[in-house]
Amino acid sequence: MILGIETSCDETAAAVITPDGRILSNVVSSQADLHARYGGVVPEVASRRHLELVTPVVQEALRDSGTTLDDVDLVGVTAGPGLIGALLVGVAAAKAIAWARRLPLAAVDHLQGHVASLYLEPDPVEPPFLCLLASGGHTMLLDVQERNGKPRVLGATLDDAAGEAFDKGARLLGFGYPGGAELDHVARNGDPSAYAFPVARVPGLDFSFSGLKTALLYAVRKLTAEEGERRRADLAASYQRAIVRALVERTRQAAEQIGATRIAVVGGVAANSELRAALAEARAAPLALCTDNAAMIASAARFSNPIHYPGYLGLDAYASTA
Ligand code: KG4
Ligand code: ZN
Repeated sequence: MILGIETSCDETAAAVITPDGRILSNVVSSQADLHARYGGVVPEVASRRHLELVTPVVQEALRDSGTTLDDVDLVGVTAGPGLIGALLVGVAAAKAIAWARRLPLAAVDHLQGHVASLYLEPDPVEPPFLCLLASGGHTMLLDVQERNGKPRVLGATLDDAAGEAFDKGARLLGFGYPGGAELDHVARNGDPSAYAFPVARVPGLDFSFSGLKTALLYAVRKLTAEEGERRRADLAASYQRAIVRALVERTRQAAEQIGATRIAVVGGVAANSELRAALAEARAAPLALCTDNAAMIASAARFSNPIHYPGYLGLDAYASTA
């Protein structure tokens, strides 16, 4: 069995999977409510909460899966990228568990984890495929040729990530944090052609979302509070349409450029209903595995080189890949 641990942002998560990718348990404890009143994740608050939650969450994952540490053969943990203090809590917990049992430890890259959400049962995706990774922290087009090894980055965002664009737009429209899912929900009752929001055209296969957010800000400013309230669904639908259009256009362009016959979508924004419908030809990660979770980290651990005892005691977390 593989025990996965994920603490890169504001979700404390642990999961147990089998070596062939069946999920036995997948526990995610979100701290979103804790950060909501600050309008975003406060790193130090996140670290402290992870510290309180990591042991009970691991215990719950073991209990839910009907296993004990005696059954665990490998521990996989997110080593980066993410909030450094948050990552350190997961890495320290994983080291302690692996060390106590003399188990090997796999240091997992969070982005590879998102891609590995596609390799879990019951319906795993086989490389090669073009992968759109769209989350709160990243927006990337990846050329995935094999399950192990780093995929080639074809394009990335030059400013905000797609999830960040959703969250900032949601905030302007008065939704709570993180507002992506709520904006998605409200947009269903709106007219996506009510407002013509621009989709930035940057060279190559990169993305840019910062102009879009400004366009929404100006549109909202022109309205009285009462009008803004009345047109909220139209604003949400039009804003969402612009983000989805940018993602879909670039993804199709990339697929054509590299001759990809298969497209996959992962990350929190892959949960977006309009994106899933607009990229109907793509394999989207299962809904429960789009936003941060530890099953995807355990999945990626299967394809990385594990570090043997005691080598991993010197393992460090990293905030960014650059
Ligand atoms: O992958 P994830 O959990 O965390 C990162 O690695 O960043 O992604 C979280 C992001 C947030 O920005 C959230 O608003 C967005 O995914 N998100 C959505 C939806 N569900 C989550 N965005 C649009 N529509 C959704 N249904
Ligand atoms: Zn993520």
